Amino acid sequence: MYRDPVPSLEAPGLLPAATPALRVGMIGIGTVGGGTFRVLARNQRLIAARAGRGIEIVAVAARDLARAAGIVGPAVPVTADPFEVATHPEVDVVVEVAGGTGPARDWMLAAIAHGKHVVTANKALLAVHGEEIFAAARARGVAVAYEGAVAVSIPIVKALREGLVANRVEWLAGIINGTSNFILSKMRDEGLGFAEALGEAQALGYAEADPAFDVQGIDAAHKLTLLAANAFGMPLRFAEVQVEGIDGLEAADVRGAEQFGFRIKLLGVARRTPQGVELRVQPALLPAAHLLAQVNGSMNGVMVKGDAAGVTMYYGAGAGAEQTASAVIADLVDVARQAGVPPAQQVPHLGVHPHATEALPVLPRAAARGVRWLRVPLVAGQGLHALQAALAGHGVLLQRAVWADGTPAAAPEALCLTEPLVQAVLDDALRALAAHPAVRGPVKALPVETLAA
Ligand code: HSE
Repeated sequence: MYRDPVPSLEAPGLLPAATPALRVGMIGIGTVGGGTFRVLARNQRLIAARAGRGIEIVAVAARDLARAAGIVGPAVPVTADPFEVATHPEVDVVVEVAGGTGPARDWMLAAIAHGKHVVTANKALLAVHGEEIFAAARARGVAVAYEGAVAVSIPIVKALREGLVANRVEWLAGIINGTSNFILSKMRDEGLGFAEALGEAQALGYAEADPAFDVQGIDAAHKLTLLAANAFGMPLRFAEVQVEGIDGLEAADVRGAEQFGFRIKLLGVARRTPQGVELRVQPALLPAAHLLAQVNGSMNGVMVKGDAAGVTMYYGAGAGAEQTASAVIADLVDVARQAGVPPAQQVPHLGVHPHATEALPVLPRAAARGVRWLRVPLVAGQGLHALQAALAGHGVLLQRAVWADGTPAAAPEALCLTEPLVQAVLDDALRALAAHPAVRGPVKALPVETLAA
């Protein structure tokens, strides 16, 4: 195995002899845990030099003991009981990479109660139980670090907390589910149907154990919840995220967006408005030339607009064993460096984030404002003017209305772009349109995002 040839550890003063290694207990040694073990071993000296102390795995919990022993070797004790690791007297920090939300919550709370720092890549756990976990960690004075929970290879939590710390964030928008992005890219580039593209994503291992979390937007909503808490200093409000996945999209939507020069992406958007924060995950249209529209396949991308930095963009793999390990180990190094530093002076504030500095309300879906793209199946022989007039009668004005390319004369479809409007107005108009004799079937409505600098 390649070992990093950094020779400088022995240099006088680089690693103070008195600094003991950070002792890590791992719960889960599957794909991500195995990747973490591998990267820690491969880059051991480099990581220790950067952390100022060694980082050693001293205990592992795994379901398959034989497989785990095969990965970590005979020197590291392996147990089937995660609580043994969570409460182990010789463990300083517990890395939870087993996944799930029920038992994982209990392991983390047990670790915190025993004074352990915790590092996790478990976005579902933190989005749902994070307030409780962070409160327990604050009370106990330990860290909860989770860079690996969002867009794994991209250090976006660190960017928000550290690099952009001077900014008042105005909005952030991200392609933060690789499976959905892979499916949308396949549908656009290869004309695949939704189910076929999902099958490929599963075969390649991008999808969650339950792919509904990916294609229904839930996984992206977990990640958006964590990003918004860091961007706006607001509590974790997963239950209030508006969530719509890509599972309702058809090839005609992808084509129809292209006809207007847009790409459809599953976007997580958090935007500060005078009335509160918009928090939504939904398929949205982006101008084809937009930087986020260039994020294809299973890759992730996040764009942040800060009042001082302006627009910044982050791109990288959103899944993968060593990609997640990269984030998990970065958190371990942060923990290793912060021993003895009071929480208020820690960089990042591992002991106290996310902390509610702003009590921003989350805007209801009906209050969202913007341009909408519509795909409207019409009865043969009906004109675009009739549609335009029907929508105008309900307060929906159109910038453009054209026939969709390639739809048969017997079953025509119109594509429209509205003027900016409030979602509640559109919802009312679409309810009325459903009963209109010129309309042949359900209308598809998606937001258009310009995400301008
Ligand atoms: N299923 C997730 C995705 C994996 O597709 O992005 C990483 O969170």
